[in-house]
Amino acid sequence: MACFDPADRIIVALDGMAPEQALRFAAQVDGLRWVKVGLELFVQAGPEVVALLREQGLRVFLDLKFHDIPATMAGACRRAAALGAELITVHACSGSEALQAAQAAAVEGAQTAGLDAPTLLAVTVLTSWQEQRLQRELAITQGIAERVPALAQLSATAGIGGCVCSPLEASALRAQHPEPFALVTPGIRPKGTAIGDQARVMGPAEALAAGASQLVIGRPISKADDPSAAFAACCAELIG
Ligand code: C5P
Repeated sequence: MACFDPADRIIVALDGMAPEQALRFAAQVDGLRWVKVGLELFVQAGPEVVALLREQGLRVFLDLKFHDIPATMAGACRRAAALGAELITVHACSGSEALQAAQAAAVEGAQTAGLDAPTLLAVTVLTSWQEQRLQRELAITQGIAERVPALAQLSATAGIGGCVCSPLEASALRAQHPEPFALVTPGIRPKGTAIGDQARVMGPAEALAAGASQLVIGRPISKADDPSAAFAACCAELIG
């Protein structure tokens, strides 16, 4: 992005909210541009929530982490792109054929709806996995430190535009994949906010310096007494 505007870099996760509450919340945060709609909100509110958020002038990251056979991945990504979601998650483990089909269908879906093509983001290894469990439960012997870049490479080769990653993985992935490959990082904790259930966190400015292109921030903003002030403080950290 040529001109740096911190509001473009922060995506606020609309988690744990009823649909009306999510819409009200998003409308109430001054200067908010990007929101993340996850499985919980989507399952409750349906695809209409994407249209309603867009009508409020917001840009939508649709985080449904698609993982299926190529035809189903393509169908889901085509529909998600036509809804106007601008960032859409898919699992890298779906494999190159499904990733390529998803990417092509997203471009097609957006085009048919008269919209810009979205960026698909690959999820590599969910941060809830530990190496021993991957080995014990799924017989995956590759270490997470090798697996994350390998799956990022698989995704990039299939034409996927970016990855979701831990901020601690951002610098290694950025070295492997220069801009405009997107690196979207959750696990962000601004100064003075509770870590909560996140184990490995980074501050917003540090995460951008490590190579993240956008940050997902949930509770530090959504649970703040004054969400507009919390959002403004995150923006200030990015330019400070
Ligand atoms: O409230 P908090 O800032 O922890 O929210 C982070 C958001 O990012 C949540 O929507 C969470 O599901 C998501 N996320 C995450 N860690 C990952 C992947 C996604 O926290 N590895």
